[in-house]
Amino acid sequence: MKQLHFGLFENAQANDTGRATWRHPDNERVNYDTLEYWTKIAEVCENGGLDFLFLADAWGWAEVDGVRPDVASIEGLDLPRLDPFIVASAILARTSSLGVVMTGSTLLEQPYAFARRMATLDQLSGGRIGWNIVTTGTADTAVKAFGVPMVAHDERYAMADDFVELVYKLWEGAWEPDALTKDKNGNFADPAKVHAISHDGPYFRSEGYGNSAYSPQGTPVLFQAGASPAGRTFGGRHGECMFVGGGSVEQLAEHSRAIRAAAVDAGRTADSVKVMAEFRCVVGETKEDAQRLYQRVLDSQTPDVTVASYAWFTGLDLSSYDPQTPMTDLHTELSQSQVSRFAGKTVGDVLKDWHEHGAGSKAFVGSPEEIADRIIELAEGADLDGFLLAPVIQPGSTIDFVERVLPILRERGVVGESNGASLRERLVGSDRPTLPDNHPAARYRATVAVA
Ligand SMILES: Cc1cc2nc3c(=O)[nH]c(=O)nc-3n(C[C@H](O)[C@H](O)[C@H](O)COP(=O)(O)O)c2cc1C
Repeated sequence: MKQLHFGLFENAQANDTGRATWRHPDNERVNYDTLEYWTKIAEVCENGGLDFLFLADAWGWAEVDGVRPDVASIEGLDLPRLDPFIVASAILARTSSLGVVMTGSTLLEQPYAFARRMATLDQLSGGRIGWNIVTTGTADTAVKAFGVPMVAHDERYAMADDFVELVYKLWEGAWEPDALTKDKNGNFADPAKVHAISHDGPYFRSEGYGNSAYSPQGTPVLFQAGASPAGRTFGGRHGECMFVGGGSVEQLAEHSRAIRAAAVDAGRTADSVKVMAEFRCVVGETKEDAQRLYQRVLDSQTPDVTVASYAWFTGLDLSSYDPQTPMTDLHTELSQSQVSRFAGKTVGDVLKDWHEHGAGSKAFVGSPEEIADRIIELAEGADLDGFLLAPVIQPGSTIDFVERVLPILRERGVVGESNGASLRERLVGSDRPTLPDNHPAARYRATVAVA
């Protein structure tokens, strides 16, 4: 069986996306706006042997814009939040091997400035950075907040293609890896190895010199989670690590197969993409004990939170439909996967499911051994390369996992020592920190006009 990798799903806000857990007496996530909180979480992850900490992100406040705005502020749903890039720099300063994966939107970021921010973090961390490429599911609210035009779902992926082409040119082509010599008796940089880039795409343009030198990984490790046909095509072309939501073995196996097929269609190998499934777990001494702990969390979710949080993903107010309405009658230009994953279900079914699981998967609730069994069963059955732990209560969920479940997985030989200074070597198993030559970014290496 493959050696599995694990990351932690975090959000620089008081709640998980679309859930209200901040009131729980043991939940320290409410202190998301303190350096102490992030230092503690970073240390738990690094000392516990997780490969990376992932920081999700979103823009705008979809709940307030649309459905039940009162619930959003009463429960602190999804706002306020901190800038993940700045949180990342605090985490990186406190750790030495943990990777940090930031979410960056190709709809809202400026590629030229974004490329420098990522290169800066990759530089300062010695190559421990990843980028979760998102087209922004909450696009309608976000574009209003930014004052830019709305772009429809599939076109956002065309825009993402253009965005990545430009940042690849900056990361891979503008400065050669050995351009910076810093020779006090000679040159600071070799002029023959510094290149102007030129990009005139359908959405983005840039001419001239890159603002930052080649960083340890060049291009940060590329994460992606597109689930629609357009999203999978994009992920197959660019993604090195694909996140999938939770689900049954069959659902995950289908995701994994489709993602690998998209990579092959793009001229890459099926195993050049690591597939990692999001999961939540509640660990108890026994199954009953764990169920009791989990019930306390579920009890804190009101029906209003459920309605407001589903609307955050989709713009759809499920409380305005007859509960018997088939989900196939509903359409959104926001996260289509949060509608299509409920094909065959009714609005009433979805309200019940969302109340229990939110956007995430059904939690694994049980003893450490039961949870380890479930992880192995899913990984084997669905050809997964790893998992993304979405904590229920922080830091308790992460501590429970790294102290009680991970040692069992190590004992069973499915989690090895993670080697490699860079996130790419550690996670993707590459023998160097930079992208493989068959990745589309590689064609921009030092091929542009020489200065
Ligand atoms: C584990 C995981 C994490 C995600 N994190 C974010 C995020 O931080 N920000 C965001 O806008 N979307 C995030 N998404 C949503 C995806 O980027 C994507 O929009 C979604 O899976 C729907 O796919 P589609 O856009 O192809 O329809 C995440 C999805 C998954 C499964």
